[in-house]
Amino acid sequence: MARLDVVETFHGLFFPGHLHTKDSLQQALQFSFQDSDVLIVSYPKSGTTWLQEIVTLISSKGDPHLSQTVPNWARAPWLEQHYFAALMAASPCAARIITTHLPHHLLGPTLKDSKAKVIYVSRNPKDVVVSFYHFHKMANFLPEAGSFPEFLNRFLEGTLHYGSWFDHIKGWTSQMNNVLHITYEEMSMDIRGAIERLSAHLQSPLLEDELNNCVKHCSFSSMKGNKMANYTLVNREIMDHNKGSFMRKGTIGDWKNMFTKELDTHFKSVFESKMEDCTLEFVWDEP
Ligand code: A3P
Repeated sequence: MARLDVVETFHGLFFPGHLHTKDSLQQALQFSFQDSDVLIVSYPKSGTTWLQEIVTLISSKGDPHLSQTVPNWARAPWLEQHYFAALMAASPCAARIITTHLPHHLLGPTLKDSKAKVIYVSRNPKDVVVSFYHFHKMANFLPEAGSFPEFLNRFLEGTLHYGSWFDHIKGWTSQMNNVLHITYEEMSMDIRGAIERLSAHLQSPLLEDELNNCVKHCSFSSMKGNKMANYTLVNREIMDHNKGSFMRKGTIGDWKNMFTKELDTHFKSVFESKMEDCTLEFVWDEP
């Protein structure tokens, strides 16, 4: 099947041209945020879709109607994608839930004086790169993945689409005003506690039953079976569902199945040098 991997370059970063134009990227930087907006920020494959589901469910007090009738990209559209304005205009949601993969050095100035509630979700970068690698194989709008060691090098150099994971996490977590930082691992280990933190940040308290419903409907198995969240509505020319599944494994530590000892040593040395200036403490598992 022919690939759709046209590349859009913006401020030195690569974006899938199938979803982005120079105009749509530029317009994202001029967006007027409202204080009631919720902004989900992530580097790809960090738990974005999971957060979209959780925030939709919290806003709906645990009622799954919206998350089971409207695709995730329409109820929490990506700010930088070319269909953003049209989707926003047609949004059935009372509060605006917006998603972005843009790095802080580009979008931060736009948010500077805003009180929009920002949620930054991060994940062990080793699991991110493995998930992204598998996603490249099924997503026809991304470049060829190549071998895993080659792909890992591109990830470490920051030359994959959406740029450097290191710059992304350092940029967004150095600006903590109105930003709640949550990790994929925290959500995996204690989803109830994570939803409570998120609902407090969103100032949207939940009753016990509402919280139970949120937990139930955002589980991996519920979302895997929800065609409004599992991307099976996207046609085969764009995502080849014979080559993989968007809701792939949903686990912590799958990197151990892809990293050799040499790759892990290389990863650790690049990680240490790139994160030298970062004081964050990560809860990620280590061998
Ligand atoms: P894997 O490829 O490791 O399975 P994003 O939405 O940022 O693109 O991230 C996709 C990753 O999040 C995939 O990881 C996907 O399976 C995982 N994911 C999505 N929903 C999840 C859930 N409810 N629980 C656990 N993992 C989930």
